[in-house]
Amino acid sequence: MRMSYKINKLHPYTPGEQPYKKMIKLNTNENPYPPTPKINKLLKNFNYYKLRLYPDPTTSKLRKIIAKVYNVKSEQIFIGNGSDEVLALAFMTFFCQKLPLLMPTITYSFYPVYCKLYNIRYKTIPLQNKFEINLKKMNISNGGIIFANPNTPTGHAISYIEVNKLLDIHNEYVVLIDEAYIKFGSESAIPLIKKYKNLLIVNTLSKAYSLAGIRIGFAIGSTYLIKGLEKVKNSFNSYPIDVISELIAIEAIKDIKYLKKNCNYIIYIRETLSKQLKDVGFTVLPSKANFMLVKPNNISAKTMFIKLRNHGILLRYFNNIKKYIRISIGTIQQMNYLIETIKYILK
Ligand SMILES: Cc1ncc(COP(=O)(O)O)c(C=O)c1O
Repeated sequence: MRMSYKINKLHPYTPGEQPYKKMIKLNTNENPYPPTPKINKLLKNFNYYKLRLYPDPTTSKLRKIIAKVYNVKSEQIFIGNGSDEVLALAFMTFFCQKLPLLMPTITYSFYPVYCKLYNIRYKTIPLQNKFEINLKKMNISNGGIIFANPNTPTGHAISYIEVNKLLDIHNEYVVLIDEAYIKFGSESAIPLIKKYKNLLIVNTLSKAYSLAGIRIGFAIGSTYLIKGLEKVKNSFNSYPIDVISELIAIEAIKDIKYLKKNCNYIIYIRETLSKQLKDVGFTVLPSKANFMLVKPNNISAKTMFIKLRNHGILLRYFNNIKKYIRISIGTIQQMNYLIETIKYILK
């Protein structure tokens, strides 16, 4: 039996491990706190008869709410089944060009996977000394630019001014900024969409909104870019968002107060953990996300990763950044247990 000839060449993305026994899971940047309690009420009152029908293929109610909150028009919003799907469709819509797509050497590891899937040429741009994205090195001819801001797994964020400068130079091909972690303390480039028609911002409800379980992501850009995305989506799957997920997402987007409180708390825990880790002999990269990339100075990162795993704490170890491990920010109690366990291991 033969599969399509392309299949042999694919190297799929490997998501963070899903543990089958009870562990403290700090490996995929999920939010440790629940989403807005308004969702609980919504689910209790949900009329299951509604499930007979297909959902709205244009997800118009959710788009309207996102547009209102982010101060753009509904036609500037595109919704997908997780931002992974939005990204997958965006790669196909914008980056199949003769010139290479530019991305940092270390960034969300799904980007090169999409490139291989669609045969997109790409060039990686090395990070600077302290793992910062190097936008200056992106001043070369290209068929598009993509990076996560804040970047993953480093947590480094680029300022609004730097993004503005980049867009002043690159106005022909699409510049895609993946703002999955933007709500944890850095500046969104969304206001620049009015000025730059080639800027596409992608965001997700999986992290700041505590909704990784429903799979909703969205893109904001000029109506021209959004129309392109819709064309590709409607050539692939007309109904990516189910009825219940749309309703849940609406409640989450509307509850701005809860979102801010939740994110501020995560930021507070992150900064506290950063100090505690430095005190026990770690190098901690400054992070504007709900995770931190850290280096134990007196033991190898891999050993620390394995030992913590044996104690029931799951972090993320990357083969391409061997000296570091990534910690997703968990609850206060989880972080205290993490620090105590690290102290025990180092004893
Ligand atoms: C930078 C970045 N973009 C996108 C995603 C995918 O998020 P989603 O759950 O919306 O598919 C992730 C997930 O970890 C991520 O780190």
